[in-house]
Amino acid sequence: MQEDLEDRVNRTCRGVAAFRAVELLYNPAPIVRDELSVQLAGPQYIDVIKKRWEEAVQRSGCDPATPHHLLFAARARIIDDMVIQELQQLVAHSAAAAAQPEAAHHPTTRCSSPSKENHHHQQQQQQQQKGDVCLQVVSVGCGVDTRPWRLALPSGVAWFDVDQQPVISLKHKLLAEAGAQQQQQQEVRFPLKCSSYTALAADATSSSWLADLAAAGFNQTLPTVWVLEGLLYYLTPEQGAVLFADIAAAGSPGKCVVLASHIPACNLEANRSCPAGHSLAGLFKSWVGDLVGSDGQLLQHDATASLQQQQQQQLTAAELQSSSTAIGSSSSSRVCRWGPAEVSADLAVLLRECYNAEALYPYGLDYSGGKQLPEVECVVTVRLEA
Ligand SMILES: C[S@@+](CC[C@H](N)C(=O)[O-])C[C@H]1O[C@@H](n2cnc3c(N)ncnc32)[C@H](O)[C@@H]1O
Repeated sequence: MQEDLEDRVNRTCRGVAAFRAVELLYNPAPIVRDELSVQLAGPQYIDVIKKRWEEAVQRSGCDPATPHHLLFAARARIIDDMVIQELQQLVAHSAAAAAQPEAAHHPTTRCSSPSKENHHHQQQQQQQQKGDVCLQVVSVGCGVDTRPWRLALPSGVAWFDVDQQPVISLKHKLLAEAGAQQQQQQEVRFPLKCSSYTALAADATSSSWLADLAAAGFNQTLPTVWVLEGLLYYLTPEQGAVLFADIAAAGSPGKCVVLASHIPACNLEANRSCPAGHSLAGLFKSWVGDLVGSDGQLLQHDATASLQQQQQQQLTAAELQSSSTAIGSSSSSRVCRWGPAEVSADLAVLLRECYNAEALYPYGLDYSGGKQLPEVECVVTVRLEA
């Protein structure tokens, strides 16, 4: 029984790392350079994914001269870029807010006085100059992702990885074996690129995971980028909706960005025997509305209305009241704080545009019942509005 669990954890996490490893080892122009993933995936998983890659190249019937990239490697690179971009924007926003004359700053903010708020931004800027923690990233369902060791992060980032206990145990073990730093003082082959790193063993569908995150050092007032990469397929629509509500409750308005990878509903419809897929489509339908139009094109959506409706059904009046009190800075409840969701990056399209390359999805058969689908996965960005 124990072995089954270990196998499953290994397959899910090391399997995804193997995509990044194969991209680095076998692609002449890799779009993600993740040396640590070669260590974490290990030769067995790398072999499996390399074979699938070769099969997918053959199956695709594409011109061999066209560069091909594995979809999960492309996803990693695209989310890498988005994380950096969002962190930089959060830094720029803090800098701009700190530089504003006090009287002009947030004249309508209710709970924090303008000078308090301005002082907070100035503190944040000073912290960043000193290299103290002033930004956070929380990667929920992190698997054995390696961003804290591979990204050129701005200074002052506290990185939190969250996954289930067996995954976090495996990750600690693999990182130690690979010579990856987990605490600042260690001398190692793969140094951390963030100010602090915390791996939290928690089930993100449990009621206590946010409290555990706070106990592990997460600071609700700091600008935070949340990454949900390859996670939503594992959750029911109800669990997904609660997870988004949790993040909304934990993130400060104006300083919270969620990047979530997502399979568009139309692709999932292609295979009716994919229950997890249907759950995911259902989740997004109720959350941001259907992201795919009748013509199959991805839509840009304003999430506010549908999320409001969705969450008002879940929260009692008393809960709404207490959540809006807890937020304090807005007269409206937390359900209104989500900004518009955008489909920021349809991976296949982005790959074509940025890299003049095609995406290969070795699991294409699972989703499309024998056909390779052109658009398989995209990333949705949601900003929590101030
Ligand atoms: C496909 S892997 C993706 C890993 C990583 N984000 C990546 O892209 O390399 C999905 C991860 O989500 C985690 N996961 C699934 N359900 C979870 C839950 N309820 N709480 C925390 N993590 C969860 C799994 O354990 C697994 O590590």
